[in-house]
Amino acid sequence: MAGARETMRAPKGMLDVLPPESGRWTELVARFAQRAARFGYGLLVTPIVEHYEVFRRVGETTDIVRKEMYDFTDRGGRRLALRPEGTAPVVRAFVEHRPATPWKVWYLAPNFRAERPQAGRYRQHWQLGVEVVGLDDPDIDVEVIELLAGFYRDLGLRDIRLLLNSMGDTESRTAYRAVLLEYWRAHAALLGNEMERAEANPLRILDSKRPDWGDMLDGAPRLGDYLSPASAAHFARVQEGLARLGIPFEIVPRLVRGFDYYTSTVFEFAAGSLDAAQNAIGGGGRYDRLAEEMGGPPAPSIGFGSGIERLLLACDAEGVFPAPPAALDVFVVDLLGTVEAMVVLAELRESGLSADRAYGGRTMKKQMAAAGAAGAHWALILGVAEAERGLVGVKDLISGEQVDVKREEVAAWLCTRKDENPS
Ligand code: HAM
Repeated sequence: MAGARETMRAPKGMLDVLPPESGRWTELVARFAQRAARFGYGLLVTPIVEHYEVFRRVGETTDIVRKEMYDFTDRGGRRLALRPEGTAPVVRAFVEHRPATPWKVWYLAPNFRAERPQAGRYRQHWQLGVEVVGLDDPDIDVEVIELLAGFYRDLGLRDIRLLLNSMGDTESRTAYRAVLLEYWRAHAALLGNEMERAEANPLRILDSKRPDWGDMLDGAPRLGDYLSPASAAHFARVQEGLARLGIPFEIVPRLVRGFDYYTSTVFEFAAGSLDAAQNAIGGGGRYDRLAEEMGGPPAPSIGFGSGIERLLLACDAEGVFPAPPAALDVFVVDLLGTVEAMVVLAELRESGLSADRAYGGRTMKKQMAAAGAAGAHWALILGVAEAERGLVGVKDLISGEQVDVKREEVAAWLCTRKDENPS
């Protein structure tokens, strides 16, 4: 049994996010939500658990599904799993509800993978993502990438590369897989135990980062040489669109991504400021067959997920998108000790100002220090002499000026001042 010291801590590889750091999360999510709305995407919320089967289908040959899922049997004997990723739940919801297509949704959700934790790799990580279900037009591939590239650009990130590849359609991949498997068989000695995985899905070996396989991987046949005319035309149009929008990219023939559902366009954004093993701040691609595989109608689709923790590590490394400084419109300094402070504070807040106070009858000096620490623009001082004349003191903590204002008018007075010089 683990002792209290271990159990009264967050589980291994899972993070708490406290203020003020969480202020970055608020801002990050708000920016993503606004951007997604501007591009015509609506928020989709799905359960944190799904039937195990939903995920089994997307990664039978991947470690994420085979070895890293948090799955369990619930009290009713159902086999469920904590979501390891966000795409399968979206497609499950699409198949269940059959909304009109194209279905454009965005999401914010935690994902769970029992990986070996290290900087930038956690057992719970949060993703912001979008999915477009029911469109095979290559222009939507460009739109999805543009949405993400602009999001990163607006955060101030500069040291990032967009890696791009095409996994082709079924026809392309069938031809390629056969050639690739022959190639792996010729290198069976080097592959050792992994030969079994190569037989199950030859593509899985391609994205390995094992240094001793470098030469073998470099010499492997390239999927790009086996694309069908339709796949090649689709990929060409995606590249043309990205170039036209001024989004730089690099074609990486070995980029195959970590789930079995990918087809056609795949992409990843790599941050130059992060360790190579965990430098993907976002990635995605097409999964044109998944809806059908889950029992739904044919619905070619594309999307991406971007890891919030990793994204913020990249921002730290580049010194961009810092935690917002503490900010408050008004801090109420109470020298009366009556319920008046409570009443004024409620009035300020209800009139739309951000306002706070100190508690416990502290000295004026301590209350003024608290006002400064809270980043307040104004201190509203409830003094005895002023109260007798129906007034309150208002000190502008930026300019240092202090004036008396009628108690009845102070909320409106502060709202007007705030509108005159918004922070
Ligand atoms: P993924 O590449 O596995 O794709 O994850 C997307 C992003 O989540 C990664 O680029 C990374 O930023 C972050 N991430 C993944 N695993 C971890 C981890 N253990 N710790 C911290 N961050 C992590 C997917 O999940 C697909 N559902 C993306 C997608 C959407 N494809 C199509 N639509």
